[in-house]
Amino acid sequence: GAGLIGATAGFGFGRSGPGSADAADGKGEPPRRDLDGANGAQVEPFYGTHQSGVETPPQAYAHFLAFTLRPGITAAEAVRWLRLLTADAAALTQGQAPLADSETELAADPARLTVTFGFGRGLVALAGKNKVPEWLKPLEAFSIDRLQPERSTGDLLLQICGDDPLTLAHARRMLFKDSRSFAKVAWQREGFRRAYGSSGEGATQRNLFGQLDGTANPGPGSEDFARIIWGAGTGQSEPVFSARGEPPADLGAHLPEWLRGGTTLVLRDIAMNLDTWDKADRPAREFSTGRTLDTGAPLSGTDEFDVPDFTAVDERGLTTISKAAHIARARDGLGPEVQIHRRTFNYETGAGEESGLLFASFQADIERQFLPIQRRLAEVDLLNEWTTPIGSTVWAIPPGASDGGYIGQELFE
Ligand code: HEM
Repeated sequence: GAGLIGATAGFGFGRSGPGSADAADGKGEPPRRDLDGANGAQVEPFYGTHQSGVETPPQAYAHFLAFTLRPGITAAEAVRWLRLLTADAAALTQGQAPLADSETELAADPARLTVTFGFGRGLVALAGKNKVPEWLKPLEAFSIDRLQPERSTGDLLLQICGDDPLTLAHARRMLFKDSRSFAKVAWQREGFRRAYGSSGEGATQRNLFGQLDGTANPGPGSEDFARIIWGAGTGQSEPVFSARGEPPADLGAHLPEWLRGGTTLVLRDIAMNLDTWDKADRPAREFSTGRTLDTGAPLSGTDEFDVPDFTAVDERGLTTISKAAHIARARDGLGPEVQIHRRTFNYETGAGEESGLLFASFQADIERQFLPIQRRLAEVDLLNEWTTPIGSTVWAIPPGASDGGYIGQELFE
């Protein structure tokens, strides 16, 4: 994995960091325990070209926290808020307590904590109306949508992910406390995947329908990922082209200057009806998606990573993978540019209550990559029988910050 045991030195948030500049009162850094290789000591970088939490292998838990700016907030105040949140996130992700932390010990086990900032239209507009990209707005309405307005709004998003729920709760509270005078919570959602260590590293997770979810995703660290999500080739590694052909290198063309090194996020809150899914038999479930439930192999193959063959036919001459199956609709006939990175988390609030998927989709260009897929799925997709989008938001994901800087600096300066 990307986590380095105990490796705080390289990304360290030492006493020279922005949040601890005046930590002379002794606050700001709890004593680090010797975790002796425990998972809690694993850190993800905070500073860098890109924000963490996008290409980072998904952690076990995610909290999505969306804020609405208080009326009358100025650009200068927004910058103060972003500086504060940046200092908090830079410290917390490295296992250090931020300045205002009164439970410093809770910051000591980061367990791959990441905090990823997303900017909504309202926040970007504070820097100037001309800075707002065209695509930073609610998606068009789809016939399948049953959106709840209160889950489909916000000016700033914090995607807080980590492998330890206590660390996550603490981080969320710190970030919330430092936001109160600038913004109100618009909505929040919690999601989960397999617990750390439950399945092998890199194993595909299962969603609440029992399906392997995330098989056909561009691989972190690959040239494909750089093009499809960051909108540019890294030029650092040999191209590893997927079975889809070579994604073009210009997918970042619609990212404004201040978003270079960043990307876009479409976050769909999709309810999954487990009661009606229970009633469908296994062949019907597999038919709806075009993959088997046990191995996740396409119905035309035997292995999870076999490339689906949408032309394969059975003895009656019918296509093995239905033209209306989820993977056929999401892929068949679409060009190599029409790809996204799905970083999804399950949610279930209790027996018989809400269950579904926090469907986080990262891509350089919403119009060229996300929308063609979503439009087709809204039109025809057998899986729609059991799924209902109930929340939808669109975010600009700024580039990473450099030590001493803050997330969004390219936008406001
Ligand atoms: C693939 C489930 C919503 C786009 C898959 C797969 C499953 C799945 C089981 C096959 C394994 C994999 O490659 O991950 C679901 C469920 C959803 C949902 C349960 C809703 C609750 C969406 C939405 C989109 C989408 C909203 C995009 C707008 C895709 C794409 C693939 C895929 C692009 C890969 C297709 C390929 O290249 O083979 N999904 N999905 N899915 N899904 Fe979904």
